[in-house]
Amino acid sequence: MQINILAIESSCDDTSAAVIQDGEVLSNCVANQEAHRLYGGVVPEVASRAHQANIIPVVDLALKEAGIQKEALHAIAFTKGPGLIGSLMVGVSFAKGMALSLAIPLIEVHHMKAHVMAHFAEAPHPSFPFLCLTVSGGHTQIVKISNHLDMEILGQTIDDAAGEAFDKTGKILGLDYPAGPIIDRLAKQGEAKFTFSEPKIPNLDFSFSGLKTAILYFLKKQIKEQPSFVEDEMPNICASVQDRIVSILMNKVKLAVQQTGIRTVAIAGGVSANSGLRQALTQTGEELGWQTFIPKFEYCTDNAAMIGITAYYKYLEEQFSHQGVAPLARWGM
Ligand code: KG4
Ligand code: ZN
Repeated sequence: MQINILAIESSCDDTSAAVIQDGEVLSNCVANQEAHRLYGGVVPEVASRAHQANIIPVVDLALKEAGIQKEALHAIAFTKGPGLIGSLMVGVSFAKGMALSLAIPLIEVHHMKAHVMAHFAEAPHPSFPFLCLTVSGGHTQIVKISNHLDMEILGQTIDDAAGEAFDKTGKILGLDYPAGPIIDRLAKQGEAKFTFSEPKIPNLDFSFSGLKTAILYFLKKQIKEQPSFVEDEMPNICASVQDRIVSILMNKVKLAVQQTGIRTVAIAGGVSANSGLRQALTQTGEELGWQTFIPKFEYCTDNAAMIGITAYYKYLEEQFSHQGVAPLARWGM
């Protein structure tokens, strides 16, 4: 029997729906919310209202692109958390209503586990066990994956996430939100000629709040001497910031490989779209003999395909949720 799963992702500012058939992606549709650009960050109230407006058209489109009638679905999967509570509530309520009306099971999915599981959307898949650096706007983690549903956090950020480091630095530089992709683009035209010190954080944990402060003081000092410093040096500043964020991430990944002896290494989450990080992982992997896995761009940032892929493996294990389920803004792995 073919298993068709409709998956819904609404944890932050993207509304996404996907149809997964036997663990293969048939459709993966995302509605981005442009409104947040105006505010320099995601405004939770604006996000939940936009999810409400987007969810039915996005689900309709996902079913249409997949060529699947809703009566042919076997389960509805949704992101239970972590994320913005108002945003999650839209997806969870929609999923519950649809599952109830079709009399099919609900499957709850952890957003950060799903980012890792994006690696199973297309072949080649990493073999178990593997390490994954999961880097998004809200999280920075090194995860050990023992099988599709068994994951353990080995280290994580004690303050800002890597995506926040990009976005907050971008705000200081006067760039639009989200600044990660803009810094990535500008960095390609520049040279990492400014250095920012690396935080001394033990073990496999990370810290990015000091970097943001260091950049702020550096810019203040430079602007005093040269008022047009930011305009004159923008690509070089971006290249330097990106270089430091990537080196902080890669140094911890190298340490994780050393400590665990696991040489299969993946990256996931929105920041895994960063060209500097992608290049650094490939290069380090070649130098140190690791097998590396980098997701396709559409599976890096938030998407429902990764929710559906995770749900497929939960379906096989009959790990179903229930109509009493509520979203969780914070949810440990
Ligand atoms: O995983 P994601 O889409 O949403 C969360 O779950 O947070 O990640 C969004 C984050 C934002 O901070 C954004 O600036 C960052 O991913 N991002 C990037 C790039 N593309 C997205 N950061 C650096 N370089 C990129 N190319
Ligand atoms: Zn995410």
